[in-house]
Amino acid sequence: MTTPLLDIHLTGADADAALRADARAGLVAVPKRLPPKWFYDARGSELFEEITELPEYFPTRTERALLERSADSIAVLSGADTLVELGSGSSAKTRLLLDAFRRAGSLRRYVPQDVSETALRPAMDALAVEYPGLELHGVVGDFTAHLGRLPARGRRIVAFLGGTIGNLLPAERAEFLTGLRTALRPGEQFLLGTGLVTDPDLLVAAYDDSAGVTAEFNRNVLRVLNRELGADFDIDAFAHKALWDPDHEWIEMRLVAGRAMTVTLPAVDMTVRFAAGEEMCTEVSAKFRLPGVRALLADAGFDTIRSWTDQQERMALTLATAV
Ligand code: SAH
Ligand code: TRP
Repeated sequence: MTTPLLDIHLTGADADAALRADARAGLVAVPKRLPPKWFYDARGSELFEEITELPEYFPTRTERALLERSADSIAVLSGADTLVELGSGSSAKTRLLLDAFRRAGSLRRYVPQDVSETALRPAMDALAVEYPGLELHGVVGDFTAHLGRLPARGRRIVAFLGGTIGNLLPAERAEFLTGLRTALRPGEQFLLGTGLVTDPDLLVAAYDDSAGVTAEFNRNVLRVLNRELGADFDIDAFAHKALWDPDHEWIEMRLVAGRAMTVTLPAVDMTVRFAAGEEMCTEVSAKFRLPGVRALLADAGFDTIRSWTDQQERMALTLATAV
């Protein structure tokens, strides 16, 4: 068994500074907002895994079925020897790609990158046992900041699955894609998983499940602020809300203050007031249309090779090359 390498591009101190900056900016914004990467502490990463198994949350199942159908073609079209994955989480679906690249005979190395070290470590430990001979090189890092520092060895394909690109706002998304293109050499590839625009009722249910797991996940960001910044959010006083925004074609996740509140955040020296019913945006999950995906990729310097969608056209996988 090869010992997994783990690079830390985001130390605890960096994360602390970034969280403070995001709290300072987001809690004085109108409307208030917090970036979604702060959901994923140990508990948040666990809750996300629970979300992927909910009956209403179709994206994971649909993308897994798509990978079952397409992974061998992707591996053959690609010929890469290094699979890099951004926001890899538990790497659960990634096994389908690893198996296909192994069947194609080209796989040497897997490089999972995630902001959550507590998700990354156990994922790598399990893979080290399941894939003897596979070189594992994990990176604790932020895909909105550390793409330039990704390990450069091998002929790489970068996977970004789960529709996570939709969690970036349009300007962040464009910056992410050009940053990724700059980090790659011509001929290296990008495999992008996107949610597609579909029935709004189905989408809202996927982000507001009847068991309340997504609500717990959303409120978890307040637990992170309480623990990391000494804040005193009354977590139960915030309700989860998911709505479809037809103009932006995204699901928006909000936390709604159930009553007027004053919250203190000693670590950033802030006092923040919430009016009764005030809504704070914690995440968007943008859905796409295939021509839009191709245009986004082209604008950043990627040529689309092929897309795969499920029969109901709810999710897409798109393979592209850096030109
Ligand atoms: N790829 C997995 C997980 C998707 S959930 C799947 O398809 O099921 C989003 C993942 O991205 C989580 O593991 C989270 O920890 C990670 N993440 C969120 N924001 C990030 C950021 N800015 N940089 C790196 N990882 C991030
Ligand atoms: N990338 C996932 C998505 O947009 C993340 C996610 C799933 C999520 N369910 C969520 C984020 C609920 C916040 C709240 O589908």
